[in-house]
Amino acid sequence: MLRAESLVAGYLGAPVLHEVSLSVAAGEVFCLLGANGAGKSTIARALAGILAPRSGTVTVNDLDVTGYPPNRRVRAGLSLVPESRHLFGRSTVRDNLLLGGYTRSRTGRAETFDRVLNLFPQLGALLGRRARDLSGGEQQMVAIGRALMADPAFLILDEPSLGLAPIYVDVILEQAAGLAERGVGVLLIEQNVGKALAVGHRGAVVEAGRIVLTGPAAELRTDPTVVDSYLGGVA
Ligand SMILES: Nc1ncnc2c1ncn2[C@@H]1O[C@H](COP(=O)(O)OP(=O)(O)OP(=O)(O)O)[C@@H](O)[C@H]1O
Ligand SMILES: [Mg+2]
Repeated sequence: MLRAESLVAGYLGAPVLHEVSLSVAAGEVFCLLGANGAGKSTIARALAGILAPRSGTVTVNDLDVTGYPPNRRVRAGLSLVPESRHLFGRSTVRDNLLLGGYTRSRTGRAETFDRVLNLFPQLGALLGRRARDLSGGEQQMVAIGRALMADPAFLILDEPSLGLAPIYVDVILEQAAGLAERGVGVLLIEQNVGKALAVGHRGAVVEAGRIVLTGPAAELRTDPTVVDSYLGGVA
């Protein structure tokens, strides 16, 4: 389990998150829904350790990582693909991927590298290209691939399909579902709510820094609030 308990966090001034609790199980896609500014990315940052919470705890398989910086959380099995992809633009695709596996053994890294190329076959032909010369969709695959190179038990995807053509949205969401099938716990933040809930197992709705609703994806898909606010009134 990836677990957040009573997280209070924010930036300067008043907190943005108010007692946020959620849990993501191994092998599930957990969808985090909410309007712009609701606090989804802030939850992602607090989980990944980019933002220190003012109170509350984060645990990864019962290990308390609340005081850990991001790199130690990666070693504990928790990786984040942030909203802005943060690739090393002048480095090649190959180097960006390999950097993601810097904590691994040489053999572990080589194995996972092959697995990432199986997952995203399009990247095979692009390994020698500079990351900044790729399309947005290709860059997103590199960003996810780089996070996977750490062999995470839990992966947070913050709007992985932002700005992507529909064909890539489907590819990315299918990959998220595939990772869960192999046992990874995926926290998915996604504006394509219908598509996200179609691949997701459970989810939660964030409003003004609070979790206001949580449940199985199938229930959220027909929940009147979710339908009205996030599915354009069409169940
Ligand atoms: N670096 C920052 N400094 C100060 N305030 C911030 C910062 N990042 C976000 N906020 C504020 O925190 C609140 C939550 O923002 P957050 O980015 O978590 O929302 P979000 O749900 O991810 O929205 P979106 O769907 O637009 O990505 C907003 O009021 C936002 O203005
Ligand atoms: Mg966001």
